[in-house]
Amino acid sequence: MTTYYSEELIQSVIEANDIVDVASGYMTLKRVGNSFKGKCPFHNEKTASFTVSREKQLYHCFGCGAGGNVITFIMEMEKLPFIDALKFLAARVNMILPEKQNQQEDHQAYEKKKRLYELHREAANYYYKILKTNPPAREYLLQRGISQETIREFGLGYASEDWSRLTDFLQTKGFSMAEMLDSGLILESESKRHYDRFRSRIMFPIVNPRGQIVGFGGRLTGTDQNGPKYLNSPETPIFSKSYELYNLNHCKNFLDAGQILIVEGYMDVISLYEKGIKNTVAALGTAFTPFHGKILERYANEVVIAFDGDSAGKSATEKAMKILKKTSLNVKILNLPINEDPDSFVRKYGQQGFKDSVAKALTIVEYELELLKRNNDLSQTDGRLRYGNEAIKVLRQLETSVEIDYYSKMVAGDTGINQEVIRREVMRSKTRSDSPSQLVEPTHSEGSLQKIPRAYQKAQELAIRFCLKTPDIIDEFPIDYLTDPFYKELLLTLSEKRKTGIRIEVNQIMSHFEDSEAVKKIVEFMMNEDEVSRSDYQDALEIMNRFYNEAQLDRLSEQIKRESSNGNDDEVARLTNQFIEIKKMMKENGRH
Ligand code: UTP
Ligand code: MN
Repeated sequence: MTTYYSEELIQSVIEANDIVDVASGYMTLKRVGNSFKGKCPFHNEKTASFTVSREKQLYHCFGCGAGGNVITFIMEMEKLPFIDALKFLAARVNMILPEKQNQQEDHQAYEKKKRLYELHREAANYYYKILKTNPPAREYLLQRGISQETIREFGLGYASEDWSRLTDFLQTKGFSMAEMLDSGLILESESKRHYDRFRSRIMFPIVNPRGQIVGFGGRLTGTDQNGPKYLNSPETPIFSKSYELYNLNHCKNFLDAGQILIVEGYMDVISLYEKGIKNTVAALGTAFTPFHGKILERYANEVVIAFDGDSAGKSATEKAMKILKKTSLNVKILNLPINEDPDSFVRKYGQQGFKDSVAKALTIVEYELELLKRNNDLSQTDGRLRYGNEAIKVLRQLETSVEIDYYSKMVAGDTGINQEVIRREVMRSKTRSDSPSQLVEPTHSEGSLQKIPRAYQKAQELAIRFCLKTPDIIDEFPIDYLTDPFYKELLLTLSEKRKTGIRIEVNQIMSHFEDSEAVKKIVEFMMNEDEVSRSDYQDALEIMNRFYNEAQLDRLSEQIKRESSNGNDDEVARLTNQFIEIKKMMKENGRH
């Protein structure tokens, strides 16, 4: 690590950035006694084991062991090297760090981003001003029930029909053409002419949870205009659709009981906000992604999927449900009438009407049972039986016997099948379907050190999935990190096959595993469509590395204890050296 700022300067940046304030920008923290608690942003968890101390200006997670000060927090969260994290924090409190010539390159990326944020801020102010002086655009919003107050709150604006008004404006503000093109707000034609991406559109600035404007959505005001109804910013160095959520910046301040509503569109968010329902977010013109799920986990305990009532909304609901099931979030589904979206619904039935229907939102199991009911004629015996059998498969995903009991009763009521029979069938099919994941579960005897944390298990699974999709990586994969014999065997098989030059076919791997549960698990991996990016994979490796080293340390310290009570001093010295080596290595890794 090359630090060229003095200790004093670094210290003053740390002091100027209260860790509780900084961390609150990324997650919900609740005061508990002298410290603040929240759900750890570095691993998946249901309980809040992430603790921040204002007094000590440190954070620590009892679940995954992450810990540090405000700088390491930003390094982790923003994936920045030390220097850039320091600059990030300095900028946050308007401190200026002196530049040094030779380090310029390191900062280029950071500086570029900073310029893009500034450019977006200018553009938003500009669009906002244009809206003020454009009566038809204002009229459009008013007629959709949006008040001046809400327009201000969301910084809504208007892009006029002119071809290069924004380009001209940004030029007067000193932005270069390269910067404008990078922002995605300005486009270049084949004849090298420059023009504004957004024209004749109501503009919705997309603001990240730290209050930076990272992109825009734009809606045509009329039906007679060309182009898609909504147009969004493209992917840029500061904007990724699969990562940002519209309104998360407001939403995080209005988390009633840790609940967030997920809606489909900009106007749903704004219209609900207008009616006083502020805990909403929307994915931006694309499907809801696993990243979105991961981000929501940091802020909420419960999410309610509130998509449009039409068939597109229903299929989006099912996709989002599949992703959210894999998080620690409690998931509910709001079933809107077929021709309504949250915007139209709240305008018709008001805040209370909407809240009432949120209160009646279905759990995943209820929702899936509803679907089954719709597809089977329960007035007929064979329909009821088919429904009963399918329902048992749905109930299998329940975790507690209380829930299983509850829903078994419900299905019994609908089908006339004895409740106890249903319950028993669910339990039976559960142990059957769970056995592949029992391969993942360690066989830990009482009090043994073998307990594998959930985060480690998840990391292993994610890493394996990435390996299956990116076989080139297999040869360098640290197989020792795997605690699960099935995973180990799977990777060893794959790597042997690769050595013989055989292209890996799913069937080939599977024929190696005669055990049908293993085969099922492999299929499940191969069929899993959730994206696993290289950086997810790298995160997983880091987590595995940490747990692996910690397990090594535990094992060594047991051995040291044993050997020293046996009086084997040489052995104790050897083991202690190993112990120190690992500690040192972990410390270095921790510093990136
Ligand atoms: P909808 O068409 O359901 O939006 O698309 P809406 O909010 O109900 O729109 P209004 O009420 O007619 O104004 C939902 C979301 O899908 C994306 C946008 O993010 C929109 O908010 N979308 C839709 C696009 O990206 N492009 C489109 O052409 C349409
Ligand atoms: Mn709508």
